[in-house]
Amino acid sequence: MHELEPLIERGSPDDFLLRQLDPNRLPRHVAIIMDGNGRWANRRGKARIAGHPAGVEAARVTVENCARLGIPTLTLYAFSSENWRRPRVEVTMLMRLLQQCLRQEVPRLNRNGVRLRFIGRLSALSDETRKALDYAVAATANNHRMTLNVAFNYGGRAEIVDALRAVAREFMGLGRPLDSITEEDVARHLYTDSDPDLLIRTSGEMRLSNFLLWQMAYTEIFVTNTLWPDFNRTHLLEALAAYQQRHRRFGGVENVGVPVSALA
Ligand code: FPP
Repeated sequence: MHELEPLIERGSPDDFLLRQLDPNRLPRHVAIIMDGNGRWANRRGKARIAGHPAGVEAARVTVENCARLGIPTLTLYAFSSENWRRPRVEVTMLMRLLQQCLRQEVPRLNRNGVRLRFIGRLSALSDETRKALDYAVAATANNHRMTLNVAFNYGGRAEIVDALRAVAREFMGLGRPLDSITEEDVARHLYTDSDPDLLIRTSGEMRLSNFLLWQMAYTEIFVTNTLWPDFNRTHLLEALAAYQQRHRRFGGVENVGVPVSALA
């Protein structure tokens, strides 16, 4: 919290939003579906793909703001396993953008203490793209302020299948019966270390789009009509304020003061 405060003008809307937030109840893991780049460009009379560089800029700003707020993990959905179905020119552009972005962003990630990780089936990417990922992951490996997971060639169902295969291999290797597999065993083999507390989706769509399906069983969802390239610090603070208004029950009931013995 402290590191964002000096950057915000006193009495501004962001100052007001920041003061509403309880720094001790911020989400520990925020996930974002960055949607609306194409519509943003179309509304400006440009080709859909012209929205992606503006989307990268919004991602850069959001990463920096989350790190300064002290959010330990941020997961961004950059390229889904279904995105290969987009026109070839768009897929090529997204791959180039990623490579270019990684080359440019490493010093800034290091300045902000951000450790970069990628989640998804990375073996399907070209050698060139994989090299760029490996370089950026290795160059930021010793940062500890925030972990940034970038989901790339990512699919939630594929992730669960990968985890199940890994658990089955482990159990069979140890001679343990497969019907003793627990939820914890599956969770241990997922791509992420924690479940998101808050999912933000831009551009008004009310879908999960195959993102972190296992991990989002109890995630609070915040949908904004803002298109991703327009998503800024104010929108982030609004999402965090909305999150802090939610009452998370994880399938139970809120504590209404009934002694546990009365429930027996
Ligand atoms: C959704 O907008 C956005 C994507 C499929 C790509 C997300 C990527 C970025 C924001 C840039 C960060 C990416 C890299 C490579 C670092 P859309 O094209 O689906 O928008 P639309 O729904 O309005 O058409």
